[in-house]
Amino acid sequence: MNHLKIVQGGMGVYISTPFLAKKCSQGGVLGTVSGVGAEHLLARILQSGDPGGQYRHALAHFPFQEVAERIIAKYFVEGGILVGQRFKVVPAFNLQPSSDLIGLMVAASYALVWLAKEGHTRPISVNYLEKIQIPLIYYITGAMLAGVDFVTMGAGITLQIPKVLDAIASGGVPSYCISVGGSRDGTETISFNPSSFFGMKFPELKRPGFLPIVSTDTLAGIMAGKLSRGSIQGFVIELPTAGGHNAPPRKKGIFDADGQPIYGQKDEVNFEKIRDLGVPFWIGGSYASPELLAQARALGAVGIQAGSIFALSEDSGMEPSLRREIRRLGYRGELVIRTDAQASPTGFPFKVASVSGTLSDSMVYDARMRKCEPSMLRVPYRREDDAIVFRCPSEPAHDYERKGRKIQDIDGRKCLCCGLFASAGLGNPGEPPILTMGDDVNFLRHLMENENSSYRATDAIAYLLQKQKQSAL
Ligand SMILES: Cc1cc2nc3c(=O)[nH]c(=O)nc-3n(C[C@H](O)[C@H](O)[C@H](O)COP(=O)(O)O)c2cc1C
Repeated sequence: MNHLKIVQGGMGVYISTPFLAKKCSQGGVLGTVSGVGAEHLLARILQSGDPGGQYRHALAHFPFQEVAERIIAKYFVEGGILVGQRFKVVPAFNLQPSSDLIGLMVAASYALVWLAKEGHTRPISVNYLEKIQIPLIYYITGAMLAGVDFVTMGAGITLQIPKVLDAIASGGVPSYCISVGGSRDGTETISFNPSSFFGMKFPELKRPGFLPIVSTDTLAGIMAGKLSRGSIQGFVIELPTAGGHNAPPRKKGIFDADGQPIYGQKDEVNFEKIRDLGVPFWIGGSYASPELLAQARALGAVGIQAGSIFALSEDSGMEPSLRREIRRLGYRGELVIRTDAQASPTGFPFKVASVSGTLSDSMVYDARMRKCEPSMLRVPYRREDDAIVFRCPSEPAHDYERKGRKIQDIDGRKCLCCGLFASAGLGNPGEPPILTMGDDVNFLRHLMENENSSYRATDAIAYLLQKQKQSAL
């Protein structure tokens, strides 16, 4: 792992497809498949006719064939559903998911990793978000069954993951403390016994390496201090210039004239402190150039994590016309990326690319009816009558208010679930996409001949590694 100078970032939803991850791994970087929303992805891809038969091929290798067959019988549609037809709803998870949903989460996660690993022996990583806690024990079980080599994970404090990896690897029972608002101690624990669920002794599995994604040297230090030696194989240090969600600034409530949160001196990472932890690290966030890769290495990093440069390549899962338009705007120097403090229901800042026809456009946003089917970002809370229910500030206003929340909280919130599925071409009809990018897309000028040309993931890797190769000569 320490020879891999580049980590291709995990990008959800379905931007880091298994096919992008595989291309990257075969090209000599750590390929990462996004495992976020796996159950919805598999169900929607099967309903789209599973072009090329790849997912049915992966499911044919799933060790528990009755589960795979049930999924195919329920979701596969030969030739795909009709244009204009909505996808069948996959039930949203709760603290006691149905056995159908558990089977789907495990098998879908297995299929994503299996496809990324098919036909080569290079390492593959899978990416999840700490903010989406409930499915983690099921997702990771599926990913480990498919032999995943690394788990990269941020968007929260991921201290529980090493124990989950150890439990699954030893054929045990992983558990997870889920944050539940209003609960006595703020959490509820869920667990999953794969052996009893699948009705046979679960095999011992390889324990993947764990690469937490953190934004501060403080958090890296806390994690390295709290976890036993060998729990963490490396850190990804993600700066606020990165695509997707960003950590909020330490000093809250300060915004620029455009309403973007301002990051200050307190947010600067002390790389010396990271280096002193003695754990390998990669730096992510507008580092996608050979010069910045060299700079990262001079700071003591093994290399960089890059996302946007791969998201805009022909190998990503981004819907091709959207990818083309971002590349065109980026090449012309006209792409506007905002750090939107309100967009994400998680409350974390989220980078939004301004592209007409998407949710960045206020007319499109205002015209959209608030509803969400994947419901992946809902969070549980305990009601006064002791029932555990879920809420999300991007849900319909009356639902949110009925759950005792302030209506002001929903202002500017965007449904990332629906918007991100649409940006991968897997949205319901009429659902507008939302696009996220890192702050800097200067790499496009090095990879494209004109505003309409494109490039592959292998071109991106060759560009990033060019100076390194020359200096190695
Ligand atoms: C389209 C897109 C989606 C992303 N989604 C995720 C995600 O689901 N999980 C995650 O950990 N990081 C996510 N990221 C961050 C990337 O993995 C990576 O760390 C980041 O993009 C690095 O900065 P760069 O884009 O400037 O290279 C996303 C980035 C992009 C551009």
